[in-house]
Amino acid sequence: MTTARDAAPKRRTIALMNQKGGVGKTTTAVNLAAAIAAQGRRVCLIDLDPQAHASLHVGVDPATCAHTVYDLLVDDDVRASDVRRTVAEHLDVIPAEVDLAAAETELASVPDRQRILLRKLAPIAADYEFIFIDCPPSLGLLTVNALSFAREVFVPMQAHFLALQGVSKLLETVGMVCRSVNPSLCVTGIVLCMHEANTTLAKEIVADLDAFFEAARDTDVPWRTCRVLRPAIRRNIKLAEAPSFGKTVLEYEPWCPGALDYRKLAERVIRDFDAMRERREAPAIETVRTARPIVTDDVPAT
Ligand SMILES: Nc1ncnc2c1ncn2[C@@H]1O[C@H](COP(=O)(O)OP(=O)(O)OP(=O)(O)O)[C@@H](O)[C@H]1O
Ligand SMILES: [Mg+2]
Repeated sequence: MTTARDAAPKRRTIALMNQKGGVGKTTTAVNLAAAIAAQGRRVCLIDLDPQAHASLHVGVDPATCAHTVYDLLVDDDVRASDVRRTVAEHLDVIPAEVDLAAAETELASVPDRQRILLRKLAPIAADYEFIFIDCPPSLGLLTVNALSFAREVFVPMQAHFLALQGVSKLLETVGMVCRSVNPSLCVTGIVLCMHEANTTLAKEIVADLDAFFEAARDTDVPWRTCRVLRPAIRRNIKLAEAPSFGKTVLEYEPWCPGALDYRKLAERVIRDFDAMRERREAPAIETVRTARPIVTDDVPAT
């Protein structure tokens, strides 16, 4: 079994997850991936949502794809290298399509169906320093596959009361998945989306979240290293307009507040990765040490 001190982590594999719809998962997956790639880091964006919004957002029409992540999951002969497409310098995407919704039922009787993505992506993982997975707004088999493969979860959310309730439910779910399929998984970031920093409610929720995660530091829950990431992403109409042009916000309106926020967040995510590598440290050292062999053997080296 690999220990955290054996080698510096080679990549961050991050699932963007929140079972609540419309919170900014896709917007964050796409624009963060693009902003990191623009810094010269090798990035892969995996669209695991049958809505295929991330694919469309980066200008890939699933109808024109010979293969998508659906084929990757259901067809043994399809390899990840057959499916990925380069959409910008340093940025590849594995697109989704609407048929992906059927994968949940088609795979229902397949042994080890929770780890197909892990097995299929292992051969290409070494090509990237950052892998982002855009999850659907549900906790079905597709999301479980994402969580089996990822080492980290970012939770995009909005700072209001119901979101705070949702986040504790979500954290419980992640805890459950950790125990069953991937003990290496950690929630490492909350991304505040459509943020209105000047409202009293938003300020209170952010303070509550900070305190909640601070209190988790010395525990062994899978969110003990989680932080509310800064900057928060401001509400900005350009972020909502960009997808209909099949462009990331960096291409669509490079100096709008949304582009600036995602660029700064990208710098933070890169900085944390470089610091982790410097310290030769996985996102949650303790978990790596105690991971059960069946999972640590499967997880591509990170
Ligand atoms: N910071 C922002 N400012 C303004 N609009 C935003 C911002 N972030 C996201 N949006 C818009 O809000 C809507 C929902 O965002 P997004 O699609 O990223 O959420 P999601 O969590 O992926 O949704 P789903 O659960 O359906 O997959 C989209 O129309 C998007 O363009
Ligand atoms: Mg989405």
